[in-house]
Amino acid sequence: MLVTGKQILEHADQNGYAVGAFNVNNMEIIQAIAEAAGDLKAPVILQASQGAIKYAGIEYITGLVKTTAELVDVPMALHLDHGTDFDEIMKCIRNGFTSVMIDASKHELEENIRLTKEIVRIAHSVGVSVEAELGKIGGTEDHIVVSEAEATYTDPEEARIFVEETGVDSLAIAVGTAHGVYKGEPKVDIERIKEIDRVVPVPLVLHGSSGVPYDTLESAVKAGIRKINIDTDIRASFAGAVKEFVEANPGEIDPRKILKPARARMADTVKEKIKVFGSDGKAWK
Ligand code: G3H
Ligand code: ZN
Repeated sequence: MLVTGKQILEHADQNGYAVGAFNVNNMEIIQAIAEAAGDLKAPVILQASQGAIKYAGIEYITGLVKTTAELVDVPMALHLDHGTDFDEIMKCIRNGFTSVMIDASKHELEENIRLTKEIVRIAHSVGVSVEAELGKIGGTEDHIVVSEAEATYTDPEEARIFVEETGVDSLAIAVGTAHGVYKGEPKVDIERIKEIDRVVPVPLVLHGSSGVPYDTLESAVKAGIRKINIDTDIRASFAGAVKEFVEANPGEIDPRKILKPARARMADTVKEKIKVFGSDGKAWK
């Protein structure tokens, strides 16, 4: 069942858990997420970045996700991750995405508000939900590169003003996580999440969540995080399983045999995350 991002996150907010938002690039990743969400009866967000759309083609992404939403009986949203380009965001809205992210976080507050507000106005007029970002999350996610020195935490008072002025449905905040593989253990500012949650009425989103210790993620959920983005850990499961298989079977050329163990490992990874986020068993009819 395909639903909006807002519907999914409101349910999470009312019931005190976080929804897993998993990045998709190809059929096997989508199938792995579908299997995990279906088996655990978990609402889930399938998100595609601009890079994923460029790689797979928007028709394939939307076609695969819409088919999945018909086959698997859990609430699902199709979300654009880190939309930085106005035309790309419009393309997703026209093609049936039920949620989009406008990431104007590299701009100053005023310009971020202006750009976000414009997307909210258009998206809401056709029932599509909007996530925005305030503060700068470090690391690399597709075309977005933020160095350690550039990364800045989200200010709670700015977040309150930002949400009030833009009318966004959810807010991605910078609280110490980073995109990609961590060098050391990430230090997540749980108190800051609590402070932001106190003054911001919409669900909060944690990016760069791969590699974050599970007890930290659990504390983040308790503090008010309602959407947790995972990309790198899925990639690592995929690549690890493919490498192992090819090393053990150097003569194998059948893509089905090469990709099957990778799909199974990704499904296990997604299941593990869903249980940590507390979204298992939370699917509604
Ligand atoms: O937008 C996507 C996420 O923030 C992914 O972060 O690569 O650390 O899992 P990750
Ligand atoms: Zn992200």
